[in-house]
Amino acid sequence: MTTENQAVVTTKLATKLSKQVGIISIDYAPVNALSQAVRAGLVNALDALENNDDVKVIIICCEGRTFIAGADIKEFGKPPTTPFLPDVVNRIEACTKPVIASMFGTSLGGGFEVALACHYRVSLNQAKVGLPEVNLGLIPGAGGTQRLMRIVGPGQALDMITSGKHVIASKFVDTGLFDLLVDSELEKNTLTFAESLITNEKLTPIRVGEREVDSTGFDWAQAKVSVAKKARGKQAPLVAFDVLEKTQKLSIKDGMAYEREQFLILRDSEQSAALRHAFSAEKQAAKLSIDAQPAKVEFVGIIGGGNMGSGIATAFLSSGFKVQLIEQTSDALAAGLERIQNNFIGNVKRGRMSQQQVDGYLANLIGDVDYQTLAECDLILEAVFEDIEVKKELFNKVEQVCKANAVLATNTSYLDINDIANTMKRPEQLVGLHFFSPANIMKLLEVVQADKTSDAVIATAMSIGKKLRKTSVLVGVCFGFAGNRMYTRYGREVQQMLLEGASVEQIDTALTGWGMAMGPLAVQDLSGIDIGHNARSAQPFPKHDKGYFRAAATMVSAGRLGRKTSAGFYQYNEGKKKSAPEVETLLREKASELSIEQREFSAEEIVHRALFALIAEGLALLKAGIVQRVSDIDVIWLHGYGFPRYKGGPMFQAKQMGEQVVAEKLGELRAEFGEELWPEYIAGSL
Ligand code: 3HC
Repeated sequence: MTTENQAVVTTKLATKLSKQVGIISIDYAPVNALSQAVRAGLVNALDALENNDDVKVIIICCEGRTFIAGADIKEFGKPPTTPFLPDVVNRIEACTKPVIASMFGTSLGGGFEVALACHYRVSLNQAKVGLPEVNLGLIPGAGGTQRLMRIVGPGQALDMITSGKHVIASKFVDTGLFDLLVDSELEKNTLTFAESLITNEKLTPIRVGEREVDSTGFDWAQAKVSVAKKARGKQAPLVAFDVLEKTQKLSIKDGMAYEREQFLILRDSEQSAALRHAFSAEKQAAKLSIDAQPAKVEFVGIIGGGNMGSGIATAFLSSGFKVQLIEQTSDALAAGLERIQNNFIGNVKRGRMSQQQVDGYLANLIGDVDYQTLAECDLILEAVFEDIEVKKELFNKVEQVCKANAVLATNTSYLDINDIANTMKRPEQLVGLHFFSPANIMKLLEVVQADKTSDAVIATAMSIGKKLRKTSVLVGVCFGFAGNRMYTRYGREVQQMLLEGASVEQIDTALTGWGMAMGPLAVQDLSGIDIGHNARSAQPFPKHDKGYFRAAATMVSAGRLGRKTSAGFYQYNEGKKKSAPEVETLLREKASELSIEQREFSAEEIVHRALFALIAEGLALLKAGIVQRVSDIDVIWLHGYGFPRYKGGPMFQAKQMGEQVVAEKLGELRAEFGEELWPEYIAGSL
């Protein structure tokens, strides 16, 4: 890999055609990000080629896997260093010789801004471009808002900038964004294009910045409503809208000045820090400290075709795996296969896949009731009923038929994988693959390492997660693993607050208002209050915690199981949710029976208690070594439980508060509610 000290931008003169084309080549692995060295190198190279009388046209291209993928995220948070990116892009646009961007891979953020400042753009058709800054809590800060708006108009520019999506180059045919789109041989085609400029004497640079924005007929008011609706708590899309609207009639110079001002404000914002944390936490989570090579997995056996099993099968098929579904009876098998087909039909309806793609995936699906048909599978995963004896027996049967090196996986959400492994002949082959429902949609995958799971199996499991395009996090064995264990603690706190006098709506509104995707009580109604209740009933009741999920137990006793009975914490009328005054009465009675005093709650206190419950349990997970690193907990919460990404995750929140505040707050809660639930903070944990 290239280091900061090495020359990362080199210039060479193209010799194939004539010496009249100067090529600036950026080589800064892994994604040619615009570090200080790259920015300085670009300016120096441009100066050199502009001053070279032999050179008529300049090409900016990249080595490696992609054209520039953006500003260097590693530099954010450090003092800015010259040359600043806006000056670099302006230097490119001001060049007196035509500059061509030669684009492939993903030209993102600052990388796309460099390309927009070039006078011509040549790209591979399948390359992607985008201004994904909003995903990092930012807006483009080097002319992206200004130049894109001038080329494609405010509507498309706004859509790209506020969504941050990467768009395939071929979609821009006829927009003037690209001067040449090719299927292959980018280098050769760019050189030919450069040569044609020389031959045709088109040597006066055409500068996007000199154009005006054409916003004729564009409805800014309507666009504002739409951006605000989609922003869902995120600041950056709203700021992006403001920048585009306010600068539409300004010169590029004034427009860029306002854009930069807003970019710098956002760069120092809490949301941007949180979103940047989320980005790097995800990259970290994928890293393993073990040195083992993943095995090749192509053929996957899935036992159990219920909702979970069929969702998992859909996820594997959609990523090109061959799947063998196993069920106990032919009727159950037919139902499982139908569920998988229905998942795909849903994908086609929502425009996520074409029918042709689906036909290809389904051709890789087979089903049977005979375990013998699992003999050739590289991975065999069970998604059957949550009963440890059933699972032990299942793996016993699997081990009799599977290949010696097959990876064996359980999708259990709570059960003790060590206990299952201890009854197996090859316990080192067993791993937990904890998918989240619906498994074909949810991004999170907990890879659960049991005591005897081999490193090679872990490496294979993590690489399977990557192929499935999941965000995989390695965790250890405990009740509920990392995510559900914390979720239980969070749920406990919410339930306790109900007994202490907070209302159902108050709790859900406070937490969704803070940014959680759904209120925890609405979630319970959706998933069925009895499901968690039954799972908890199999565990000993925690004697120190007299209110432990008593609110849920009260609902179950009253036959209020959630949406499925049209009554849970809320009342449902034709699917429409409304408050249920009788629930408040039931909870008041329960509180009085347990001698829990009721009082008023503020939204702030509700959020504080729920968040600190997560932090306390996260700290306990770290202490027990269930997760590899503190940021892994955030990744789990961002991808599995609807924690607002722009808040970074519960442990990021704790880090932002600082160790001292966390220790103090935990101390206050401990003093009020006891040390079993609120452990002492151990310095250095965060
Ligand atoms: N700066 C520094 N490093 C970056 C980076 C960036 N902008 N983008 C990616 N990387 C690093 C990753 O951290 C990772 O490093 P690692 O191997 O040490 O973990 C490596 O590149 C490869 O990244 P991925 O694993 O994500 O590889 P993929 O092939 O899956 O994806 C990608 C590549 C599409 C470029 C993806 O990494 C991505 O989306 N990156 C973020 C791009 C981005 O947000 N750019 C805008 C930056 S903000 C900006 O430009 C502001 C400007 O307007 C002023």
